[in-house]
Amino acid sequence: MNVQRTQVGIIGAGPAGLVLSHLLHLHGIESVVFENRSRQHVEERVRAGVLEQGTVDLLTQMGVGERMQREGLVHYGIELRFNGEGHRIDFKDLTGGKGITIYAQAEVLKDLNNARIAAGGQVLFEVEDVAVCDLESSHPKIRYRKDATDYELHCDFIAGCDGYHGICRPSIPSHALTEYDRIYPFGWLGILAEAPPSSHELIYAYHDRGFALLSMRTPHISRLYLQCQPDEDIETWSDDRIWHELHTRLVSSNWKLTEGPVLQKGVTGMRSFVVEPMQYHRLFLAGDSAHIVPPTGAKGLNLAVSDVQILARGLDEYYSKCSLRLLDRYSEICLRRVWKVQRFSWWMTSMLHRFTDDNPFDQRRQLAELDYVTSSRAASKSLAENYVGLPLDPLE
Ligand code: FAD
Ligand code: DHB
Repeated sequence: MNVQRTQVGIIGAGPAGLVLSHLLHLHGIESVVFENRSRQHVEERVRAGVLEQGTVDLLTQMGVGERMQREGLVHYGIELRFNGEGHRIDFKDLTGGKGITIYAQAEVLKDLNNARIAAGGQVLFEVEDVAVCDLESSHPKIRYRKDATDYELHCDFIAGCDGYHGICRPSIPSHALTEYDRIYPFGWLGILAEAPPSSHELIYAYHDRGFALLSMRTPHISRLYLQCQPDEDIETWSDDRIWHELHTRLVSSNWKLTEGPVLQKGVTGMRSFVVEPMQYHRLFLAGDSAHIVPPTGAKGLNLAVSDVQILARGLDEYYSKCSLRLLDRYSEICLRRVWKVQRFSWWMTSMLHRFTDDNPFDQRRQLAELDYVTSSRAASKSLAENYVGLPLDPLE
């Protein structure tokens, strides 16, 4: 067994793991990142695309925002479409100038990997049998296998950034955790299409046949979603059927959906999930390993980034001042924000989707909510400030 040492061992090279590793490097703290998939797989996975202002600002301050500034699409509003009519929520006006940036998660990961490598950082891909142990000790360990050799890494701290299906959360004794869960009776069928986006801004559409969303990745690539069954068989959805359904649900007068070749398609289930606390001794959970939001509020990636921003501050305080003060409050500080973002994601999801057991009363109520949210300045403002991203609570 080869034994090595680092300050912070990080499991998972998604947004949480890579942002944490680079933030720590900027504070002069050493880390090693372990990822069980290949770099190519991680950088090609089609996932989120909406960055909050705070995420954009952080990536820019970290020196990894240059391509995002050049290629990202800045939006100052979204459209809510119902009864065949569009209603714009004007973020700039309602939030004092804030907006969102459309830039794919895969591109963020490419920029972060390049920055880590340029800085001599250690990101190990295709690592097998990753396990954490001695979690209750002051030197927890990560065991792994790489190129048929077994290794053990001694750490001061471990960050579990390995997503919902990772190994970190299940390594914590179950009596130490409480899980809160809600599974929705629907999923999203998503496509990437070689078609110029049919709208400058995102369109969230409520329709009798279910929710639809028009988003984009570049001025030439559209990203579109349809509410579907949670276990929908993608094979039953020909490109023609997908486009027909999108035309139906996104219909509006004087507006046309532009079609194009479908480059990728897939189905995602939807759930809300939180584990409390997000810390077990010297193991800290961050991002999807600690919480999942339904995608309707576009929050998953952004929440992962805000967790590790807080964790990096806590670790910096530990190494610079020998103080565990902030680290001991990590879970409490994160969870306050996590639950507000859970509430918003649940609310957007509940307002915009058809539920299996809904009745005409529920539909009328959803339409009244959409009418209220698009006609009351107070209600629009609440949506806008959550969508562009709630500020981080002060850490002092
Ligand atoms: P992840 O990005 O999941 O990263 C975790 C990493 O850990 C992965 O690279 C994984 O391979 C690695 N890993 C797992 N287990 C191990 C192990 N045992 N050893 C080593 N490495 C391991 N959010 C939105 O806002 N909008 C969307 O449209 C959207 N679409 C999504 C589609 C899908 C299919 C999924 C799964 C998520 C989507 N999300 C979306 C959510 C968003 O992408 C996540 O919230 C975000 O990726 C969270 O980042 P993370 O770093 O916490 O986790
Ligand atoms: C996208 C995903 C979302 O979940 C969302 O609410 C908006 C946009 C996207 O993939 O572009």
